[in-house]
Amino acid sequence: MGKDAEIISGSVVRWYPLVAESGTGCFVKDVDGNEFIDFNSGLVVLAVGHSHPRVVKAIKDQAEKLIHYSWTDFYYKPIIDLADQLTKITPGSFAKKVFFCNSGAEAIEAAMKLARWHTRKPLFLAYTGSFHGRTFGTMALTSSKPVQRKHFFPLLPEVTHVPYPYCYRCPFGLTYPECKMWCVDFIEEEVLKKYHPPEDTAAMVLEPIQGEGGYVVPPDDYFPRLKKILDKYDILMVADEIQSGMGRTGKWFAIEHWGVTPDIVATAKALASGLPIGATVAREELMDWEGGSHANTFGGNPVACAAALQVIGIIRDEKLMENATRQGAYLTKRLKEMQQKYPIIGDVRGKGLMVGAEFVKDQETKEPAAEQVQEIMNKCFKRGLAIITAGKSTMRFAPPLIITREILDEGLEIFEGAVKEVAAQLR
Ligand SMILES: Cc1ncc(COP(=O)(O)O)c(C=O)c1O
Repeated sequence: MGKDAEIISGSVVRWYPLVAESGTGCFVKDVDGNEFIDFNSGLVVLAVGHSHPRVVKAIKDQAEKLIHYSWTDFYYKPIIDLADQLTKITPGSFAKKVFFCNSGAEAIEAAMKLARWHTRKPLFLAYTGSFHGRTFGTMALTSSKPVQRKHFFPLLPEVTHVPYPYCYRCPFGLTYPECKMWCVDFIEEEVLKKYHPPEDTAAMVLEPIQGEGGYVVPPDDYFPRLKKILDKYDILMVADEIQSGMGRTGKWFAIEHWGVTPDIVATAKALASGLPIGATVAREELMDWEGGSHANTFGGNPVACAAALQVIGIIRDEKLMENATRQGAYLTKRLKEMQQKYPIIGDVRGKGLMVGAEFVKDQETKEPAAEQVQEIMNKCFKRGLAIITAGKSTMRFAPPLIITREILDEGLEIFEGAVKEVAAQLR
C-alpha cells in the first residue's frame, strides 16, 4: 500500500485496505491470508464467482490458440459466437448488431455516437444521480457525484438531466402512487415541450436500476410510460445495463422486469467475469454507420470473448438467474426484518441480487447516515465481509449469483452485528 501511494494515480479512491491476492467462488483472500465473503463481486463483475473453473479453462485454451488479432481489422470466430449469443439474450426478438469495446464507459460512448450518427440529432437526455462512465461523453451523462465532473469542464454540452424516479426521496416531494408519476410527465411537459426539442434529441440514456446513485428502483409503471413518450417523439432508449445486466436482477437484463424493449443495450462488467470487454447491442437498422466511423484495437478480444461465452453458458446451466431471484428474495426479506429492528435502516429495495439498504439518522427526516454507513462497512471488512456503499448512505448487496443461503446468512450475520453496534451509538 505504501508503494501504491507513491506510484499509483491519486484519482482513485480505495474503500478499505483490502489487498486481494486470490479468489474462489464467493470468497476473496488478502495477502495476509484473511478470507472475506465477497458481497462486492469485485465491483459487480464476478457474477459467476471468482475464477469459475469453466471460465479459467476457456481463458487458458483461448490464450494458447490466439490472444489478439484486432477485430476491427480482421476476423476471428469467438467474437461472432459472442455477438450471436448477445443478440439472443438482449431484449427484443428483432435482428440486432453488436459493437465491441473494452469497458462500460466505451459501450455507452459507442451508444451515444451511434445514436447521433443514425438520427443526425445532437441532444441527449439523462438522469440526475446517474453513472455512465468517465470519458468525456459519458461524464456529460453522469451526475452522481460532483467530484466526477469538477475541474473537467467543458463537457459535451448537449445533455439535459431529469430527476430519476427515486420514490424514497422524491425530487418533487411527492408520494407514489398519489403523485400519478409526475416525474415521467415532467419530461414531456416541462422539458421536451419547453426547451429541449424532441426533434433534436437523439436518445435518452438510463440505468434501469440506478447503481452508483444508490441502488434505486423505479416504480413498476415508470418505464412503460417513459417508453411511450420516447416513441411518440422518436427518441431512442439506451439501457445502460453495465451494472444491472447479465442475470444480476434475476433476468438477463433489468429492463425486462418492466416489459420494455430498449433500442440500444450496453453491457460490460460481468460479461467476461473480470476480463475487460464491453458490448453495445442495437436494432439492426440503427447500426447503419459507415465503415471507419467507429472502431478500436482491443475490443472483443478473443480471450475475453471465450470467457464471456462461458459466463453466458454458466448462467444458463447453473440456473443463476433463478438463484439470483431466490437468494435475492431471501436477502431482501432479511434486510426488511432488520429494518424493523434498527430504525437506522430507512429503506430496502432491489431486484434479484442487486439490493440496497439506505441508512438514515432519523426515519422521519430521512437525513442520510453517511458516516454511520461507512462505519458499518469498515466493521464488516474487519470481520470478514467485503461490502461497499452506493449513493450517499446506501449499503449495496451485489454478491456473486452463485451464492448459497449459507454464505448469505454468514455474511448477513456479520452485517447485522455491525448495524446493531452502530445503531446503538446513534440512539
Ligand atoms: C451503470 C454503469 N455504467 C457505466 C459504468 C462504467 O463502466 P466502466 O468502469 O467499465 O467504464 C459503470 C461502472 O460502474 C456503471 O455502473
